[in-house]
Amino acid sequence: RPRIRLHHLQAAKDQGRKFAMLTAYDTMMAGIFDASGIEVLLVGDSAANTVMGYSSTLPITMDDMIVFAKSVVSGASHALVVCDMPFGSYEVSPEQAVASAVRLMKEGGVHAVKLEGGAFFAPHVRALVAAGVPVMAHIGFTPQSEHALGGYRVQGRGEAGDLMIADAQALEAAGAFAVLMEMVPTSTARRVDEALHVPTVGIGAGGATTGQVLVWQDMLGLGSGKSARFVKKYADLRSVVAGAATAYREDVLGGTFPAAEHEFPES
Ligand code: KIV
Ligand code: NA
Repeated sequence: RPRIRLHHLQAAKDQGRKFAMLTAYDTMMAGIFDASGIEVLLVGDSAANTVMGYSSTLPITMDDMIVFAKSVVSGASHALVVCDMPFGSYEVSPEQAVASAVRLMKEGGVHAVKLEGGAFFAPHVRALVAAGVPVMAHIGFTPQSEHALGGYRVQGRGEAGDLMIADAQALEAAGAFAVLMEMVPTSTARRVDEALHVPTVGIGAGGATTGQVLVWQDMLGLGSGKSARFVKKYADLRSVVAGAATAYREDVLGGTFPAAEHEFPES
């Protein structure tokens, strides 16, 4: 199968088809998702939470992201690999954004980047696109702005929906190849999608977007605690892994592992 490229995602929008996106942070999960036909893999800065155990995405660094990027790229032969620009790596200037994105592509090997923010970041997107870096824009709830937004809250209700359309159009005009919306009412997400030529991707944004994205640990039920409204749990990996770990320990303590078939005979 050929590599998924930007034009395949655009064709999905143009032809009224959908595409699926999942986060990935390591080569094995990336390989499974890639072989399953997931069109886009996101090296999300959510690795700050899901892998590194931070309580927000703010602390993750460029060096951290490059490790995850390399790991995902090595497992993906079909999917388009998009990598988040971490907090602090692009806000200062379009020049800073280009320098950071070049590292993610050159050292991390990813095919595109994603950055959080609205029309204010159109110059940054324009500079990236001019440098040959495909950009996915991320609007609505943007976790890197958690403290400015007052926590995890739905964005784009009422009149804020009009502003969101203006943001999306500015980002599209700057050259973004797709616009991702997080925690947005379905009606607003539909209006944004209809206002854009490029595909949209949603997480907690209803069913009108071209693509959907979920964090894999949420989707596969690896985490503890209750998940957000927009998550659908397709598996209960937490109980699978816990059950296996418990069984292994019981085998070790009871002396039933290793068995003869796991041992090396003298000859
Ligand atoms: O980092 C991430 O996982 C994301 C998705 C939730 C869109 O940005
Ligand atoms: Na992210």
